[in-house]
Order: sequence, then C-alpha cells, then structure tokens
Amino acid sequence: MDLVRLIYTSVAVREMRSEDLDDILAVSLSRNAAMNITGLLVHYTETSEFMQLLEGARDDVLALFHGSIAKDPRHRSVEIFHLEDGAERLCPDWRMSFCLERHGGLKERTGLSGFVRHGELSDMRAGFARRLMIAYREEIMRRDTV
Ligand SMILES: Cc1cc2nc3c(=O)[nH]c(=O)nc-3n(C[C@H](O)[C@H](O)[C@H](O)COP(=O)(O)O)c2cc1C
Repeated sequence: MDLVRLIYTSVAVREMRSEDLDDILAVSLSRNAAMNITGLLVHYTETSEFMQLLEGARDDVLALFHGSIAKDPRHRSVEIFHLEDGAERLCPDWRMSFCLERHGGLKERTGLSGFVRHGELSDMRAGFARRLMIAYREEIMRRDTV
C-alpha cells in the first residue's frame, strides 16, 4: 500500500464550542476508521488554528482531504504544510486523536488512543503534537521573513 503522511493547517471561522469539536471528531472517527486513516487533530484555542496529521493509503488520504476536509466551511486558509510519500505511520493506533492546546499546555479532550483515555495527554503524544505545532510556527516565521 502506498502510504502518505499529510499535515495541514487551517483557521476556524469562528470560536469552536465543544459541541462543534465533538461533531468533527465523531465524523472523523467513523470515516477514518472505515478508511484506515490514522492521525492527530490539534486545535490551538488562542489563535483558533487547527493542525491535523492524516496518514494512510495515498488515494484515501487525498480523497478525504481534498474531497471533504478542505471544502469544510468551518475553517479557512486550509494549507498543506507537509506531504510525504512512503512514510510509516507515526500513529498506527490512533484513529483520530484530538488535542486542545491552550495556556501553554496540551490537554486531551477525547481520549481515543491506545495510550490514555482520560486526563493529561501522555508525554509521548503531547510531545508529538507540540513538535508539530513548533514546526508549523517555525515554518510560518520562516515564510514571513522570506
Ligand atoms: C478541522 C477539521 C478536521 C476534520 N477532520 C476530519 C477527518 O479527519 N475525517 C473526516 O472524515 N472528517 C473530518 N472533518 C469533517 C469533514 O470536513 C466533513 O465534514 C466530513 O468528513 C463529512 O464529509 P462530507 O461532507 O463529504 O460528507 C474535519 C473537519 C474539520 C473542520
């Protein structure tokens, strides 16, 4: 199977209430599981940014991204930040994990991974999401200075 890893960023069009996030997560869970797509969704509440990692079969990931996610009116400025072919899954067990980042700390909203179900994120996942977020910020800063 041709695996692909796609990371995109976007900005919510309005403040996301927990019901809004629950809706996104519920759809993501069932559809992604059906397509064997794994990943991580981070919502940065202070800036309303989303960042999502999607990994799975190339055709499925691209169809989900271009066919549904990128057209979703709940967010704008949807931009692919990273697209890598042949990558191994970073989150093989995570159907779609979800983090909220605010006040400098990552909190788990809905525990879906095999690692933690309630409370604080495991160090591993928090570290991964944070690295993604930092890489994103560095890229934005780099673009701003070019
Ligand atoms: C930030 C964000 C992330 C999303 N992530 C997923 C996802 O991982 N999987 C998914 O099926 N839908 C996801 N959605 C929802 C899709 O955009 C879409 O509403 C849903 O898949 C239903 O697709 P359809 O309108 O083509 O039927 C996400 C939406 C947003 C705003």
